[in-house]
Amino acid sequence: MALLEIKNLKMDFGAGADALRAVDGVSLTIGASETVCLVGESGCGKSVTALSIARLVATPPANYVGGEILLNGQDTLKMSNGELQKIRGGVVSYVFQDPGASLNPVFRIGNQIKESLKLHRPLTRPSATLSPAGGEGRGEGVRVLKNVITDYDTEVIRLLKLVGIPAPESRIRNYPFEMSGGMQQRVMIAMALASEPKLLVADEPTTALDVTIQAQILDLLSELKRRLGMAILLITHNLGIVGDMADRVAVMYAGQIVELSPARELLRRPLHPYTKALINSVPKLAGGASRLSAIPGNVPRIGNFPPGCRFAPRCPIAKPECSEKIPELLEVEPGRFVRCPFWK
Ligand SMILES: Nc1ncnc2c1ncn2[C@@H]1O[C@H](COP(=O)(O)OP(=O)(O)O)[C@@H](O)[C@H]1O
Ligand SMILES: [Mg+2]
Repeated sequence: MALLEIKNLKMDFGAGADALRAVDGVSLTIGASETVCLVGESGCGKSVTALSIARLVATPPANYVGGEILLNGQDTLKMSNGELQKIRGGVVSYVFQDPGASLNPVFRIGNQIKESLKLHRPLTRPSATLSPAGGEGRGEGVRVLKNVITDYDTEVIRLLKLVGIPAPESRIRNYPFEMSGGMQQRVMIAMALASEPKLLVADEPTTALDVTIQAQILDLLSELKRRLGMAILLITHNLGIVGDMADRVAVMYAGQIVELSPARELLRRPLHPYTKALINSVPKLAGGASRLSAIPGNVPRIGNFPPGCRFAPRCPIAKPECSEKIPELLEVEPGRFVRCPFWK
């Protein structure tokens, strides 16, 4: 069983005659320890898709009109609020773009991580660590933790070390404003790791940071994934960073997945015209000069999707029939899915 299985998810903003479809039939699986990148320009529906996993988009205005989101086999779309509270920052944790906006400015960072720990990881009494896991059925409600913790302060420091914050013993007393953007993002990652998530969703985690710090945070994510074995859903509008990170890539356009493929093959030989355009828009050093070819036109807004293939109005190889009906996402080579009949 996959860790996460999104099946034909449909989500609207608004209801009835005012409903605007933001996520239109998205299917995506993520295996345990797999890294999947969700890419696409701004406004394509990446964030709302990712937030839907833990149902973090408020309903209303959001309205889930179809599909399933199976997390460890359980449909989060059918969960009660209590069940959702448990999985949020539990089995699935999020890291967002702007750490400054996510951290509370009036609390020391050590205390903020501690709160996250208290919520999801009850202290293990020394006696409980001695009894074998699953013995006598007494262990109800006691999770078997990868790292048994007996006091929170030690664990906060361990987490800060894990995310590469120097001198964590003194850093725990810092307020967020006393740290750089990169260090704040490391704190956010430590908070997300506090619950030992099976799935870490990182939504443009480096977009607000400058380039060298970006690379450091991405290296940190790769290393954490290797050490902790969690799955990562990494969202980015920058295809330039997926090569080092992703096992598989899903390319999203106007609420739909248009290409899904193992990362290496997708970068080497993109199949969908939109993926090709995205790759061409990544700045690269050719002949010493940096060249960037932006994709002409704009992502259509929800409620304003063109008929047929949504990329057709911007597509260099569009044919008249492209605007007639939405192409299906088809497996054209083993493991490679494309929503374009003219992908060759
Ligand atoms: N709370 C909201 N109410 C109405 N529309 C929204 C809301 N949040 C996002 N949208 C719309 O949903 C679409 C997808 O947004 P989003 O998932 O944020 O895109 P991305 O993350 O790919 O940049 C956009 O057209 C956006 O304007
Ligand atoms: Mg977004």
